[in-house]
Amino acid sequence: MGKSVTLGTPLSPSATKVMLLGSGELGKEVIIALQRLGVEVIAVDRYENAPGHQVAHRAYTIDMTDGEALKALVEKERPHLIVPEIEALNTDALAEIEQAGVSKVIPTVKAVQLTMNREGIRCLAAETLKLPTSPYAFARSEAELAASIDADIGYPCFIKPTMSSSGKGQSRITQASEVKAAWDYAASGGRVDQGVVIVEGQIDFDFEITLLTVRANNTAGEVQTYYCDPIGHRQERGDYVESWQPQAMTAAALEAAQQVAKSITDALGGLGLFGVELFVKGDQVWFSEVSPRPHDTGMVTMCSQRFNEFELHARAILGLPVDVVLTKPGASAVIYGSVDSKSLSYAGIEAALAIPDSDLRLFGKPEAFVRRRMGVALATADDVTEARVKATKVASLVKTQGK
Ligand SMILES: Nc1ncnc2c1ncn2[C@@H]1O[C@H](COP(=O)(O)OP(=O)(O)OP(=O)(O)O)[C@@H](O)[C@H]1O
Ligand SMILES: [Mg+2]
Repeated sequence: MGKSVTLGTPLSPSATKVMLLGSGELGKEVIIALQRLGVEVIAVDRYENAPGHQVAHRAYTIDMTDGEALKALVEKERPHLIVPEIEALNTDALAEIEQAGVSKVIPTVKAVQLTMNREGIRCLAAETLKLPTSPYAFARSEAELAASIDADIGYPCFIKPTMSSSGKGQSRITQASEVKAAWDYAASGGRVDQGVVIVEGQIDFDFEITLLTVRANNTAGEVQTYYCDPIGHRQERGDYVESWQPQAMTAAALEAAQQVAKSITDALGGLGLFGVELFVKGDQVWFSEVSPRPHDTGMVTMCSQRFNEFELHARAILGLPVDVVLTKPGASAVIYGSVDSKSLSYAGIEAALAIPDSDLRLFGKPEAFVRRRMGVALATADDVTEARVKATKVASLVKTQGK
């Protein structure tokens, strides 16, 4: 017999309370999944009317890098679980909160601390766990950056702030004359300007995948690791534009990918879903990075799996069993703002949804920018090639217009 899980009634003394730190489009879907299980959800973000704010029991707008603000809010709400959706958090405050026995941080404080900084996670993966990664070095000045490229890394290479996501501050360079611009861009593009960049040698991969990996209780009450089918994706300027599931790969590469995912998620620990990013060439795989939470490329699972990545995360963190089965090949395509606007409208929806086996998510973000992700198109088909064509078509039929 497994450990027994009890869920309460929201807004009553028995409520099971979960606080989301970061309430964007991914958090919004986790909240919806939790709401369906009668969980009381508190959504927190840095700006008002964030997507998750719109579907939670209560919404707060605070600076989550401010430890005192975070601790005060947790003290007021006393959630059972704290679920980070973003990396820009005051992790020392989270450690203190957990230490004080107020709430449990998902999946673990250690995982949140290590993954918020490329230095922490890369050293764990490459040095402690000996996982295959691109060649890399850290640099604290432009001179140090130039020296490590010359000595070890070579060209082409990627320069990234150690604290950033979604391609911010990231560049790919092919020659020495580009080092200065890459350094300046990385130093200004990072979240917290701490002046440390990572430089990575380019991996000449056939394709890249996200392996959604779930640590959840099995029916015996033990933590077990489950793998979704690999998700292929295409990135532009460090940001995902299209993803599909399953990505075909050799049996040897799949096994190697699962081993890497097992190793890194075991090291991070806790319960929940992780997005393990890997580069694949033939039978060979390289670890790139990992999110200790649902992954943007995993939005495809909203059409391709029996339970999408958000439902899997919700179940896993509550201690419930999961089922990672794929039901149909699927694809997702990102819908951008295309214009800057504080009251964007979306036209062409009826034409978009007239495409068979298609679906749409519009995130409801209060402010649009040209390159801001505002929605996602989804489609299933008999194979991923066809699903990709359909999803891209659906996305292209949605026409955004500013007021
Ligand atoms: N060493 C590398 N070799 C080849 N391609 C790379 C390398 N590093 C990054 N890339 C490319 O750039 C993309 C973004 O890199 P990475 O995942 O490190 O950045 P990110 O800002 O964390 O993006 P996100 O948070 O959106 O996943 C990768 O998915 C890959 O396409
Ligand atoms: Mg990435």
